[in-house]
Amino acid sequence: MGSISEKMEEHYKQTFEKHGATSLGVDWGAVSADHQLRLQKMLSVLLEGHEDATVLDVGCGFGSLYDLIVKNDISLRYSGVDLCENMINYAKKQHPNCEWINGDFLSLNSEHGTYDYVVCNGILTQKLVVGQKEMDSFAKELIKKMFSMCNVGVAFNIMTTHANYFTENLYYRNPAELLGWIMSELTGKVKLDHSYPLFEYTLYLYKEDFPLMSYGAHRTLKGEV
Ligand SMILES: C[S@@+](CC[C@H](N)C(=O)[O-])C[C@H]1O[C@@H](n2cnc3c(N)ncnc32)[C@H](O)[C@@H]1O
Repeated sequence: MGSISEKMEEHYKQTFEKHGATSLGVDWGAVSADHQLRLQKMLSVLLEGHEDATVLDVGCGFGSLYDLIVKNDISLRYSGVDLCENMINYAKKQHPNCEWINGDFLSLNSEHGTYDYVVCNGILTQKLVVGQKEMDSFAKELIKKMFSMCNVGVAFNIMTTHANYFTENLYYRNPAELLGWIMSELTGKVKLDHSYPLFEYTLYLYKEDFPLMSYGAHRTLKGEV
């Protein structure tokens, strides 16, 4: 396991031990509405008319995204992968019908196959004590692997450099620069949502050969504005 993953595992294992299945337990801060908003942004990758799709939630934590999927009666086949055994054990107990994988996403081998959607709410937002350059390489590796494992689309979030306050432990990326890299290396079918008030953005990447136009817009969730 790479050293970034070791640091992440140690950090999130402790936040979950301390705060349990809450937004603080996955270090998303005390405001649970912010956590929910981020999760909604992940589900916006789903296209209407694509029922029973498979989804891999990378860095799934204790399964908060699946809770939102259930709340919205969305018919999906969900799998989650996370480094932290304590969170995965909790998630398994809550939802034994899903696939829960305890391990490093970057080490998943090809036997896991592909998923229609791959989402990641929060691995690329916190760098802890890792240097910016090292984190940039890690981010590229993670994004490329997510895209290679999806059949339809990927969603992930990252802190924006369009902010007036920066914190040492968070990972900021210029949205225009990251979008440029994605469009030249991975796909031109992209959406960027920089419109919500959390000093971060969500990027949506779709496969070039997927017939997006035959599907509707993204799904609307209960209570979504
Ligand atoms: C900010 S938390 C978010 C958890 C969950 N997505 C949520 O929003 O409730 C980030 C999670 O990513 C996990 N993680 C970090 N790097 C990972 C990796 N390489 N493979 C799998 N999980 C990872 C951490 O253990 C942690 O649970």
